[in-house]
Amino acid sequence: MTPPTPPEGPGKGTGFISSTLAAPVTTAEAALRPLSFSDFAGQAKTIERLQVMVGAAKKRGDPLNHILLSGPPGLGKTTLAFILGHELGRNVRVTSGPVVEKAGDLAGLLTNLEEGDLLFIDEIHRIPKTVEEYLYSAMEDFRIDIMIDQGPNARSVRLTLPRFTLVGATTRAGLLTAPLRSRFTLQTRLDYYDKDTLHVIVRRTCKLLNVAIDEGGVAEIASRARGTPRVANNLIYFVRDFAQERAGGAITRDTAAAGLELLEINAAGLDEMDKRMLRTMAENYRGGPVGMSTIAVAVGEEAENLEEVHEPFLIQEGYLQRTPQGRVLTEKGYAAVGLKPAGNGQATLL
Ligand SMILES: Nc1ncnc2c1ncn2[C@@H]1O[C@H](COP(=O)(O)OP(=O)(O)O)[C@@H](O)[C@H]1O
Ligand SMILES: [Mg+2]
Repeated sequence: MTPPTPPEGPGKGTGFISSTLAAPVTTAEAALRPLSFSDFAGQAKTIERLQVMVGAAKKRGDPLNHILLSGPPGLGKTTLAFILGHELGRNVRVTSGPVVEKAGDLAGLLTNLEEGDLLFIDEIHRIPKTVEEYLYSAMEDFRIDIMIDQGPNARSVRLTLPRFTLVGATTRAGLLTAPLRSRFTLQTRLDYYDKDTLHVIVRRTCKLLNVAIDEGGVAEIASRARGTPRVANNLIYFVRDFAQERAGGAITRDTAAAGLELLEINAAGLDEMDKRMLRTMAENYRGGPVGMSTIAVAVGEEAENLEEVHEPFLIQEGYLQRTPQGRVLTEKGYAAVGLKPAGNGQATLL
């Protein structure tokens, strides 16, 4: 067992990736991050839950209770962690599950916090099990018992921690152990955004970027953004370039559609990988049931990425179903790649 890292200021050796005091992780993304609840569109239930907790914690002068944010990538988990810090007027320290390799790393992070600080652990499902156990007492009792030295000199040292708030984010809430999950007062899941909310987000981003866009352009981008603000923002970046290079600058419905066709994103927002998954299932596996690891090998992509990024959207939109035997393509899934199921289980052209 490694001894705990001695307390020192933020920076090298503390395991923090960044903090509100340090430079933002990616400038393009950080520039578009809403900073307050009022600037954050959608996710009404989650926002109301968070507002209740923040309001109560502020009035009582207590640290916020621990919060777990889950949901597919790009829906606003990191953004919300920073909003919580902003609304509470507290520091947000950022780290990530795979970075916290040893109990000593965790002890170093925790002892560097100030009372009321937020510790944001991204991808918390990837924290090693041996480290996870130390989180239990840290979250519950704000203390951590750590073994130092080995053999006859081995002894346990108790570190008392400042009362902090753990904000965990995960794309795979199901992979968290029950003991860890149960220590979060609030577990809240972000959903894909509806069209109207995406319209608001697209307009907001274009305004921040000083991009001229009409309502047709807004609608076209929103409808192809697969319910995800990060995707919407990335499409805007590309369509802005496309409009500038091919169409005189402003984004209209036609420019947006032409630009997104160039990216091979279809009218329903399916990208190349989505379509490849659907086509493979139809043509090679008779529409399933087929396991995700088999699909992953066939399309040449990591199963984890397919499960986190592609599958939730395909299921939500009714292209795929998940069964105990494996994934099954629906009729809509066949149709999306121009095929239909044939009686003999083979796919035929529509
Ligand atoms: N509700 C929202 N309103 C406006 N922009 C949003 C919203 N949710 C996310 N975004 C934007 O989408 C991008 C990705 O969000 P992020 O919080 O990094 O997602 P996650 O951590 O869930 O992967 C950020 O640039 C953020 O500004
Ligand atoms: Mg994130």
